[in-house]
Order: sequence, then C-alpha cells, then structure tokens
Amino acid sequence: MIIAIDGPAGAGKGTIAGYLALKFNFQYLDTGMLYRALAKAVIQANVDPALAPEEVIQIAQSITIEAAQDPDLRGEKVAAMASQVAVIPEARLLLNDLQRKFSHSIAAPYQGAILDGRDIGTVICPEAECKLFITARPEVRTQRRLLETQESSDLLATMSQQIAERDKRDSTRQIAPLTPAVDAIIIDTSDLTIDEACSKAAMYVTKCLSELKKSQKQSINH
Ligand code: CDP
Repeated sequence: MIIAIDGPAGAGKGTIAGYLALKFNFQYLDTGMLYRALAKAVIQANVDPALAPEEVIQIAQSITIEAAQDPDLRGEKVAAMASQVAVIPEARLLLNDLQRKFSHSIAAPYQGAILDGRDIGTVICPEAECKLFITARPEVRTQRRLLETQESSDLLATMSQQIAERDKRDSTRQIAPLTPAVDAIIIDTSDLTIDEACSKAAMYVTKCLSELKKSQKQSINH
C-alpha cells in the first residue's frame, strides 16, 4: 500500500509520517529532502535558478535517493531555494523518477511506502490507496518552525514572511502546485497535540488498510 502525505511547511507532515511508518511498518521518504539536496548543490555551485534553469537541471541529474539522508539540509535558506528550483519542470521530472522508483521498490518486511511532500497524492502517486493532506494555520506553522530550527523568537516576523512566500510559490506554480488530491482526507493540526494528530492519521490509515484487504479478498473471490 502507498500512503501519500501532502501539505505546507510546518503542518506536521514529517512527524505524522514518521509515526505512521513505525506504527504500521512502512518505509518512509521525505521527498522535500530531495528538493533540499538539489537546492544545497545549487547554492554551492552559486547558480541563480531564475537566470540559469538549465544548470539546475544538470545538477538535478546527479541527485540520488540517498541525498534525502543528508542531515545538513534543514533551515529556511535551503528551503527557500528548494521552492525556487521546484518550479523548474525538468528538474521536477528527474526527482519524480526517484520518488516513483522508491514507491515501487518496497519489499517485505515492509507493508508499503509512505511519501510526504507537496504533490504526492496528485502527481507522484495518484494511485495511492491512502491520501492525507495535513495543514495548519500559518501562524501556528511559523511558531512550530521557529521551535524546530531553534531560531530565536526575534526572527518570528522574518520566518513568517519566508514561510508565506514559500506557501505562495508552492501553491501558485504552474506545475504540480500544492493542493489536496480530491480523494485526500484533510487534517488541520492547528488545535491538535502531536498525539492527537498522529492518532487521527493512524485511524484513517487503519481504515485504508482494511478497505484494501476487503477489496483484495473480493478480487480473489471473483
Ligand atoms: O519541511 P518543509 O515542509 O518545510 O519543506 P520540504 O518538504 O522540505 O520541501 C521544501 C520545498 O521543496 C517545498 O517548499 C517545495 O517547494 C518543494 N517540494 C516540492 O515541490 N514537491 C515535493 N514533493 C516536496 C517538496
């Protein structure tokens, strides 16, 4: 089974995905890390994606799935660049390939794959049996990101602006904009504790798993 999780920055996708992966024994890919890895390489090469998108595409060819493990990719500077490279269609296509390969490469003992990002339920895995769209009010997401990155609260205004710019770029881009899939369940985590958000998501996954089992049984009987 494939679980697709989408949503904006700071909504709680990563926390929920990590929890579900452990609870249900799924293999997890944070697809934003691929965009962040590309962004880091673009920053290191001193390339301006608006002026030289072809150089970004060339760099994207060297990104591998292992890049998602780099712990040095957190931080809003890399994230801002990630959302700039993410508007380049050919760069997305290269990263899409890695994500789809991952989603189809899962073997026992795992039950399936969980991917989180912006376009998993709509573009990468439209066939996913279980789709969640995790969201929260912008001010709550900014506060969480400040805590997560351990930035001082003096940076609240800056962080709030950075996240708003990124939300806008991600939601209004021509290709694969951030939007819930029509068959996604939407969870607003603004007024939920981490435990509450995770158990709500887990209840939904349990339902998806039992529906999948039911439909597999039916197809065997026919
Ligand atoms: O962790 P956070 O939600 O802040 O961001 P992320 O998931 O690491 O993604 C960083 C940026 O990569 C996003 O703002 C998007 O522009 C881009 N991205 C994307 O376009 N498609 C994805 N599937 C994942 C990330």
